[in-house]
Amino acid sequence: MTPPPQLRRGRPLVARGASAIAIVALAVTAAAAIPAQAAGSTLQEAAAQSGRYFGTAIAANKLSDSTYVTIANREFNMITAENEMKMDATEPNQNQFNYSQGDRILNWAKQNGKQVRGHALAWYSQQPEWMKRMEGSALRSAMVNHVTQVATHYKGQIYAWDVVNEAFADGSSGGRRDSNLERTGSDWIEVAFRAARAADPAAILCYNDYNIDDWSHAKTQGVYRMVRDFKQRGVPIDCVGLQSHFNPQSPVPANYQTTIESFAALGVDVQITELDIEGSGSAQAENFRKVTQACLNVARCTGITVWGVRDTDSWRASGTPLLFDGNGNKKQAYTSVLNTLNAASPTTPPPTTPPPTTPPPVTPPPTTPPPTTPPPTTPPPTTPPPVTGSCSAALTIANAWPGGYQGTVTVTAGSSSLNGWRVTLPGGVSTNNVWNGVVSGNVVSNAPYNGSVGAGQSTTFGFIGNGNAPSPTSLTCS
Ligand code: G3I
Repeated sequence: MTPPPQLRRGRPLVARGASAIAIVALAVTAAAAIPAQAAGSTLQEAAAQSGRYFGTAIAANKLSDSTYVTIANREFNMITAENEMKMDATEPNQNQFNYSQGDRILNWAKQNGKQVRGHALAWYSQQPEWMKRMEGSALRSAMVNHVTQVATHYKGQIYAWDVVNEAFADGSSGGRRDSNLERTGSDWIEVAFRAARAADPAAILCYNDYNIDDWSHAKTQGVYRMVRDFKQRGVPIDCVGLQSHFNPQSPVPANYQTTIESFAALGVDVQITELDIEGSGSAQAENFRKVTQACLNVARCTGITVWGVRDTDSWRASGTPLLFDGNGNKKQAYTSVLNTLNAASPTTPPPTTPPPTTPPPVTPPPTTPPPTTPPPTTPPPTTPPPVTGSCSAALTIANAWPGGYQGTVTVTAGSSSLNGWRVTLPGGVSTNNVWNGVVSGNVVSNAPYNGSVGAGQSTTFGFIGNGNAPSPTSLTCS
């Protein structure tokens, strides 16, 4: 029998097993107050320790390259078809579907025990020639038919679909990108999501885009407003995909974690879907570390996919943006990601219940909106582990609007590691909306999954404050 969608959506299968193990491990180690984790020796093993997946994009025509296949099989447990499930590949002539290359990748993944991210059902780019020439109601029908047919073909076999890709404009408008799809009416995105849900109720449905990594960018805010609106109106969206293509012109933003937290606070998963970072050596390794750590710091950031295996496989090969060099050797960036994943605390799985269809109460949208629904916090353990080690905590204001604000607190361990932490919020702060922490009065203590912080490492929690935002400040941490 097919399990109901709420049991199948939400967490990767690989991770659910790992999470169960992690919960048992947590219970045992809480009693002994000793964090116990064997280091994973591959990216997929290391990511699974905190209940996450680690994926790559695969090109069907490279499945005969033994070095490529060996690395892909060893290191990754989530597979995205780099081009083979796109509109031009799957419907080259109207209503004539071709799944040959997409199926090759899907079958390789299944035969090797991997899950698959579907990419992408509706996009302004890589449309087949017949679709490029279409407009209006004919295009709308063709788009719905495409989404329905492709999602039905792969029904039950796709962990998450990028239902709509890259629909927002670059620059300062924060609005939609012009395209033939947009000109069919701006409801085309929600129509695509509804069609995808109807065709494959078990798949996690994602909106995927690039340049939405920096929280202060208008494009990020535009996507945020759309996702918030969809959640409020019950449009079936489960996830936001941050493509995360970085280079010197578009570096990893300092507020990357705020972006992940803010989307997650809307009640959607966040997946890093196409990660690549141009560069080399220790600078590149440090950037990969930052991205990995930011994902690990947010419970609903459920996995990371890099956009290719070796540098030479990349769409930006000259920027050497991946984790393996052209000969298949592990780069410094690889070691950085592996070690960061291995240092993560086991994560309590996020809620797997389906998204609410009843909208939460709506406050009038401020220009820079706050999250309306922070994720539920896991109840604190009845006997909290003893707090050890010294720490510091710094409050920054991620967002503010008349009558409220979103605070982010970064908790950093001193010269020894922490096994639990408590932060006192500034006087006058009033909140009962906290994520990645447990609030009691004006003290926030760690959630069950983020109390262990290595020496010099950081974790964060967020909260919604009422009234005026305090100035950024350092807080008491113990
Ligand atoms: O396969 C043909 C080959 O037969 C032909 O000789 C050659 C001539 O140009 O083209 C080959 O196809 C290319 C295809 O990649 C496979 O290599 C296309 O021209 C080329 O346009 C295509 O580029 C892909 C690009 O999307 C197209 O938009 C990249 O591989 C792929 O990595 C890239 O992926 C996108 C994501 O889907 C969305 N986010 C951005 C990301 C990077 O652009």
